[in-house]
Amino acid sequence: MAAPKVALASDHAGFVLKKGLLVALESWGRTAIDLGTDGPDPVDYPDLADTLAKGLADGEVDIGVLVCGTGTGIAMAANRHPHVRAAACHDVTSARLARQHNDANVLALGERLIGAETAKDCLKAFIETPFEGGRHRRRVGKLSRRPVLC
Ligand code: RB5
Repeated sequence: MAAPKVALASDHAGFVLKKGLLVALESWGRTAIDLGTDGPDPVDYPDLADTLAKGLADGEVDIGVLVCGTGTGIAMAANRHPHVRAAACHDVTSARLARQHNDANVLALGERLIGAETAKDCLKAFIETPFEGGRHRRRVGKLSRRPVLC
Protein backbone atom coordinates (compact mmCIF):
# COMPACT_ATOMS: atom_id res chain seq x y z
CA MET A 1 0.00 0.00 0.00
CA ALA A 2 1.27 3.49 -0.86
CA ALA A 3 2.34 5.72 2.03
CA PRO A 4 -0.40 8.14 3.06
CA LYS A 5 -0.08 11.62 1.62
CA VAL A 6 0.41 14.15 4.41
CA ALA A 7 -0.28 17.88 4.18
CA LEU A 8 0.25 20.58 6.77
CA ALA A 9 -1.32 24.00 7.19
CA SER A 10 -1.16 26.60 9.91
CA ASP A 11 -2.03 30.16 10.73
CA HIS A 12 0.56 32.76 11.77
CA ALA A 13 0.57 31.41 15.34
CA GLY A 14 1.56 27.94 14.16
CA PHE A 15 3.92 28.30 11.22
CA VAL A 16 7.14 27.79 13.21
CA LEU A 17 5.91 24.49 14.62
CA LYS A 18 4.57 23.50 11.21
CA LYS A 19 8.03 24.01 9.67
CA GLY A 20 9.58 21.84 12.38
CA LEU A 21 7.04 19.11 11.72
CA LEU A 22 7.82 19.21 8.01
CA VAL A 23 11.51 18.69 8.78
CA ALA A 24 10.62 15.81 11.09
CA LEU A 25 8.47 14.16 8.42
CA GLU A 26 11.31 14.44 5.92
CA SER A 27 13.73 12.91 8.44
CA TRP A 28 11.31 9.97 8.73
CA GLY A 29 11.40 9.53 4.94
CA ARG A 30 7.95 10.96 4.35
CA THR A 31 7.09 13.61 1.84
CA ALA A 32 4.55 16.20 2.86
CA ILE A 33 2.80 19.14 1.27
CA ASP A 34 3.03 22.55 2.92
CA LEU A 35 -0.20 24.46 2.36
CA GLY A 36 0.98 27.60 4.21
CA THR A 37 1.02 30.01 5.84
CA ASP A 38 4.72 30.82 5.74
CA GLY A 39 5.27 33.77 8.05
CA PRO A 40 4.05 35.89 10.94
CA ASP A 41 1.62 38.05 8.97
CA PRO A 42 -1.83 37.46 10.47
CA VAL A 43 -4.15 35.12 8.58
CA ASP A 44 -7.46 33.57 9.60
CA TYR A 45 -7.24 29.94 10.71
CA PRO A 46 -10.59 28.93 9.12
CA ASP A 47 -9.12 29.72 5.69
CA LEU A 48 -6.21 27.34 6.23
CA ALA A 49 -8.53 24.66 7.59
CA ASP A 50 -10.68 25.03 4.45
CA THR A 51 -7.62 24.62 2.21
CA LEU A 52 -6.68 21.40 3.94
CA ALA A 53 -10.28 20.15 3.88
CA LYS A 54 -10.32 20.66 0.10
CA GLY A 55 -7.14 18.61 -0.27
CA LEU A 56 -8.73 15.78 1.70
CA ALA A 57 -11.93 15.98 -0.35
CA ASP A 58 -9.99 15.92 -3.64
CA GLY A 59 -7.97 12.89 -2.56
CA GLU A 60 -4.70 14.80 -2.76
CA VAL A 61 -4.24 14.38 0.98
CA ASP A 62 -4.85 11.38 3.25
CA ILE A 63 -3.67 12.82 6.56
CA GLY A 64 -3.72 16.47 7.57
CA VAL A 65 -1.87 18.40 10.22
CA LEU A 66 -3.21 21.77 11.33
CA VAL A 67 -1.43 24.13 13.69
CA CYS A 68 -2.67 27.34 15.26
CA GLY A 69 -1.94 28.92 18.62
CA THR A 70 -3.96 26.40 20.58
CA GLY A 71 -5.10 23.82 18.02
CA THR A 72 -8.66 24.62 19.04
CA GLY A 73 -9.88 27.14 16.47
CA ILE A 74 -8.34 25.41 13.49
CA ALA A 75 -9.79 22.04 14.59
CA MET A 76 -13.22 23.61 15.03
CA ALA A 77 -13.02 25.12 11.56
CA ALA A 78 -11.86 21.86 9.97
CA ASN A 79 -14.64 19.89 11.65
CA ARG A 80 -17.27 22.03 9.91
CA HIS A 81 -16.52 19.81 6.91
CA PRO A 82 -18.34 16.47 7.21
CA HIS A 83 -15.45 14.45 5.75
CA VAL A 84 -12.97 15.86 8.28
CA ARG A 85 -12.35 14.32 11.68
CA ALA A 86 -9.89 16.69 13.31
CA ALA A 87 -8.58 15.99 16.80
CA ALA A 88 -6.87 18.68 18.86
CA CYS A 89 -4.17 16.74 20.71
CA HIS A 90 -1.72 17.68 23.43
CA ASP A 91 0.13 14.45 24.08
CA VAL A 92 0.96 11.10 22.52
CA THR A 93 -1.96 9.34 24.17
CA SER A 94 -4.57 11.71 22.75
CA ALA A 95 -2.97 11.45 19.31
CA ARG A 96 -2.86 7.65 19.42
CA LEU A 97 -6.45 7.31 20.63
CA ALA A 98 -7.68 9.81 18.05
CA ARG A 99 -6.52 7.31 15.42
CA GLN A 100 -7.46 4.07 17.22
CA HIS A 101 -10.95 5.07 18.31
CA ASN A 102 -11.97 8.05 16.17
CA ASP A 103 -10.20 7.36 12.86
CA ALA A 104 -9.15 11.01 12.93
CA ASN A 105 -7.79 12.18 9.59
CA VAL A 106 -6.47 15.51 10.88
CA LEU A 107 -4.15 16.16 13.81
CA ALA A 108 -4.53 19.67 15.26
CA LEU A 109 -1.78 21.07 17.45
CA GLY A 110 -1.24 24.30 19.38
CA GLU A 111 2.16 25.92 19.00
CA ARG A 112 1.54 28.10 22.06
CA LEU A 113 0.60 25.13 24.23
CA ILE A 114 2.99 22.27 23.52
CA GLY A 115 6.69 22.00 22.80
CA ALA A 116 8.19 20.98 19.49
CA GLU A 117 9.33 17.57 20.75
CA THR A 118 5.92 16.70 22.13
CA ALA A 119 4.35 17.83 18.86
CA LYS A 120 6.70 15.56 16.89
CA ASP A 121 5.86 12.63 19.17
CA CYS A 122 2.15 13.34 18.64
CA LEU A 123 2.65 13.40 14.89
CA LYS A 124 4.62 10.14 14.86
CA ALA A 125 1.94 8.41 16.92
CA PHE A 126 -0.78 9.84 14.71
CA ILE A 127 0.68 8.70 11.40
CA GLU A 128 1.78 5.28 12.66
CA THR A 129 -1.37 4.22 14.51
CA PRO A 130 -4.13 2.42 12.60
CA PHE A 131 -7.86 2.73 13.22
CA GLU A 132 -9.07 -0.16 15.38
CA GLY A 133 -12.41 -0.50 13.60
CA GLY A 134 -14.76 -2.92 15.34
CA ARG A 135 -17.12 -1.21 17.76
CA HIS A 136 -15.69 2.18 16.83
CA ARG A 137 -16.72 1.98 13.16
CA ARG A 138 -20.45 2.52 13.78
CA ARG A 139 -19.77 5.50 16.02
CA VAL A 140 -17.33 7.09 13.62
CA GLY A 141 -19.86 6.58 10.82
CA LYS A 142 -22.35 8.66 12.78
CA LEU A 143 -19.95 11.59 12.84
CA SER A 144 -20.53 12.37 9.17
CA ARG A 145 -24.33 12.18 9.20
CA ARG A 146 -26.56 15.19 9.53
CA PRO A 147 -26.83 15.82 13.29
CA VAL A 148 -30.10 14.67 14.87
CA LEU A 149 -31.53 16.73 17.73
CA CYS A 150 -33.62 14.63 20.09
C1 RB5 B 1 -4.36 33.58 16.72
O1 RB5 B 1 -3.96 34.66 17.52
C2 RB5 B 1 -5.03 32.52 17.60
O2 RB5 B 1 -6.23 32.99 18.09
C3 RB5 B 1 -5.24 31.25 16.80
O3 RB5 B 1 -4.01 30.81 16.33
C4 RB5 B 1 -5.82 30.07 17.53
O4 RB5 B 1 -5.14 29.83 18.72
C5 RB5 B 1 -7.27 30.03 17.69
O5 RB5 B 1 -7.85 29.03 18.13
